[in-house]
Amino acid sequence: MSLTKPRSIDAAISSTSSLKITLPTLQEKKRSHAPISALTAYDYATARLVDEASVDLVLVGDSLGMVMLGHESTLAVTMDEMLLFTRAVRRGVRRALLAADMPYASYHIDIADGVRNALRFVKEAGAEAVKVEGGRNRVELVKRLSDAEIPVIGHIGLTPQSLHRMGGYRVQGKSLSAAELLLGEALALEEAGAALLVLEGVPREVAARITNELTIPTIGIGAGPDCDGQILVVHDLLNLTFAPAAKFVRRYADAADVIRNAVEDYRKDVETRSFPSDAESYHLPAETRERFATIPERQPRKA
Ligand code: KIV
Repeated sequence: MSLTKPRSIDAAISSTSSLKITLPTLQEKKRSHAPISALTAYDYATARLVDEASVDLVLVGDSLGMVMLGHESTLAVTMDEMLLFTRAVRRGVRRALLAADMPYASYHIDIADGVRNALRFVKEAGAEAVKVEGGRNRVELVKRLSDAEIPVIGHIGLTPQSLHRMGGYRVQGKSLSAAELLLGEALALEEAGAALLVLEGVPREVAARITNELTIPTIGIGAGPDCDGQILVVHDLLNLTFAPAAKFVRRYADAADVIRNAVEDYRKDVETRSFPSDAESYHLPAETRERFATIPERQPRKA
């Protein structure tokens, strides 16, 4: 048991920070050159903290396969897992726009299957947008999702679901032809109806050019400071990845250190019987205590 407080019984949050972020809000931020903040979250508590810190966009990324489930890549993540985590995050998010990642194989077989799976995120988990990886090969899917009233976030550059085709997690769009290709993919996704575009692992110059040419907001991760917004995996930002940080990650806290020290202190306190203290224990009422003490002690049972 834990006395975690559900958001549903919270008092209303203050009027300025409670303004719900919608796609038009993000579009307006691009128009007015106000940077968009985005972060991943996978569970209720983190989602709530991220939302209360007024981050604009919360993404339930399929990166959860690695940071939450311990897989070596995102490829094993299933629809059921994504739905479970998205529902938990939904309960913690009030203000931010909530997007969910479509996992590998949930939109790669055929388009009808992709639309059906995307609809599940909206109907069963409360997502307000879905994200799909890929460029021109996703144009038809993006059109069909938009027709079904599902806002789509495109994702190009280093797309982790293409791990085997890319031969590793490598920066994309470094040659002139690759940069031109990326620009073309970005424009094709926008034309197909994508609402936002994630640019991952691309040179700053390419991301800046794409950001300039698109009317939809770009959200960068390892794509330099000229994108309309930035996103990080929350475990990277907090040092919960057990790996050296990538070049584009800035660590804002060392949660691993905080958790490790707290757990070690707890273990020591248990081993030295200094936890729990008398004040951390429940007690019989005084009168019952006295009568309880008069009950004769029994012989301990033999093992
Ligand atoms: O899965 C994920 O977390 C992502 C973001 C890093 C963009 O795709």
